[in-house]
Amino acid sequence: MKLLKVVASAVALCAVFAAQARTFDEIKKDGKILIATEGQFAPFNFFNGTTLTGFEVELAELVAKKMGVTIQWKTLGFDALLTGLRQDRWDLVIASHGITEERAKAVTFTQPHYCSGGMIIAMDPAIRSAKDLTGKVVAVQTGTSYLENVQKVSSIKEMKNFPTDVDARSALNSRRVDAWVTDRFVAKAVADKNPNAGFKLGEMLFIERIAAAVAKGNQSLAEGWSKALADTMADGSYTQLSKKYFNEDVRCN
Ligand code: ARG
Repeated sequence: MKLLKVVASAVALCAVFAAQARTFDEIKKDGKILIATEGQFAPFNFFNGTTLTGFEVELAELVAKKMGVTIQWKTLGFDALLTGLRQDRWDLVIASHGITEERAKAVTFTQPHYCSGGMIIAMDPAIRSAKDLTGKVVAVQTGTSYLENVQKVSSIKEMKNFPTDVDARSALNSRRVDAWVTDRFVAKAVADKNPNAGFKLGEMLFIERIAAAVAKGNQSLAEGWSKALADTMADGSYTQLSKKYFNEDVRCN
């Protein structure tokens, strides 16, 4: 009897840990897809007052419509997003993740929804390229590809990590650091919005392809998403949205 109980609880425990990612069919049957993002990375995902919006949020709405499902959004710290996929706490993540080898070991990426890269921003116009970062203090958001790539610039004095990209920007704005590395479209938007703040846009440190991610091996969902995304790129709705945010088409080519 006792043994039976032990076996039963072991089986139950296994079931908890083996919670399977939902397939595209299961999600369609349910009619709702649970998508997680950060909400602190304008113009891609951010809050306008209490409303979650941005290029990625609006694009996801277009894609979901083509998939025949409605989105239930969740917003969390950037660091928690991919981890939650592994625990099947949500179906998909869209938060400007660059496709990296390291991440691809843990999650499955969809087709990319835009191409961009990490740009160097400073107050001092002399700081423009990787070599200008020699002996400088550089701000980046924790867990990002910016961190990874700034780390490779061995001549810097120090890299400072911040929980959000907004915090990294503030550090530069108040001159607690010499430079900030972020997405080039984020940098452009910040400079355009604050023309008198003195942000100087430098060179791109690296380029990357940005994609949504699903749980490792959830091919049906990755394909369902990528197919619907391709449809938005084919019917003009992607271009229209991209132009609204960036005045250009930001798809990879
Ligand atoms: N593109 C960078 C990366 O892949 C930064 C993404 C930051 N996203 C965000 N929602 N804060 O890591």
